[in-house]
Amino acid sequence: MMKALLVNDYNGPETMQYTEIENPAPKDNEVVIQVQYSGVGLVDILFSRGFGQRKLPFIPGLEVSGTVKNVGKNVEKFKKGDRVAALTINGLKGFAELVSVGEDYVVKVPDELDLGIAAGTLTNTATALVLLKEITPIHVGGSLLVYGATGGLGSQVGQIAKLLGAQKVVGVVSTESKKVKAEQLGFDHVYLQEEFLNSSNELFDIVVDPIGGKQRKLNLDRLNPYGSLAIVGNASQEELADINPDTLWLKNLSITGFNFGMYTSQYTKRVNKYLEWAIQLIYQKQLDLPTVYKTPISEASESLIKLENGEINGKLLLEYH
Ligand SMILES: NC(=O)c1ccc[n+]([C@@H]2O[C@H](COP(=O)([O-])OP(=O)(O)OC[C@H]3O[C@@H](n4cnc5c(N)ncnc54)[C@H](OP(=O)(O)O)[C@@H]3O)[C@@H](O)[C@H]2O)c1
Repeated sequence: MMKALLVNDYNGPETMQYTEIENPAPKDNEVVIQVQYSGVGLVDILFSRGFGQRKLPFIPGLEVSGTVKNVGKNVEKFKKGDRVAALTINGLKGFAELVSVGEDYVVKVPDELDLGIAAGTLTNTATALVLLKEITPIHVGGSLLVYGATGGLGSQVGQIAKLLGAQKVVGVVSTESKKVKAEQLGFDHVYLQEEFLNSSNELFDIVVDPIGGKQRKLNLDRLNPYGSLAIVGNASQEELADINPDTLWLKNLSITGFNFGMYTSQYTKRVNKYLEWAIQLIYQKQLDLPTVYKTPISEASESLIKLENGEINGKLLLEYH
């Protein structure tokens, strides 16, 4: 038996239970990981409050790191004891002592790289890479604006845009302290939300919106002709704005949606390539990484609530011994 953090109802982290369940049994192409850290995304909390109406009970958790415990009979790339990080996004299940994951979702973590950093960055870095390479490609010399610029995803989108050759990368944040932090991440300019809504009239090739809410509709006015609004989340949980499709036609604009979870279930081999790329960028220190906050899994509920309330300015990790 192993322990896992179970969501039994839609009442959020308050009623999650860290409890014993059966060990996972690996399929032939799967790797069983003894988890040391599970990365927490805001979406894990949203799921636990009923977003997406996932079938109950379920184990949240999009990403983990740890060591390989055993492997299925067709797995050749990994062996017992390897340090690894993995996406558990496909079906969730990462908040557990053991997870069994298809080998294409697993990457080796170099000895010098902290397993906490690996677990805390892999999903968001890989999401940003796929978004800006395939879904709304950023062109060399192009411009991009991202909301929630210090968030797990927003911070990676800004930095990856720069690495891929964007000339102007601008962030929007909600507080002065986040503004300072975003400036340290290398954004060319950072606006406070109100400042941006009320005074800026800069235009961009791509606007990335993980936040939603009232500004979503206004983002179309921030795009250059042929520009694209990428909708990648709704962290605010506010009602969505009505958008008139004729605006797209008249101004040569597009809106794209991107859900990395769905992508991972369809393009397994490509996902593996992006994970390898992400871990190399992280290892080679080409990205500034978020501060990580490690909390014992047995005290997860309290920390998840803090994250939901915006009291954790960085990436939360659940730690197992
Ligand atoms: N499309 C995908 O595949 C994909 C992948 C990863 C994440 N996401 C989505 O991206 C969003 C951000 O996720 P994350 O893991 O980056 O979260 P995070 O690190 O907690 O960052 C969330 C950011 O959202 C902003 N925010 C605005 N209203 C908020 C609210 N009511 N509660 C919490 N945060 C709020 C905050 O920025 P400010 O305070 O500066 O506004 C915060 O920095 C989520 O909706 C998540 O589902 C999508």
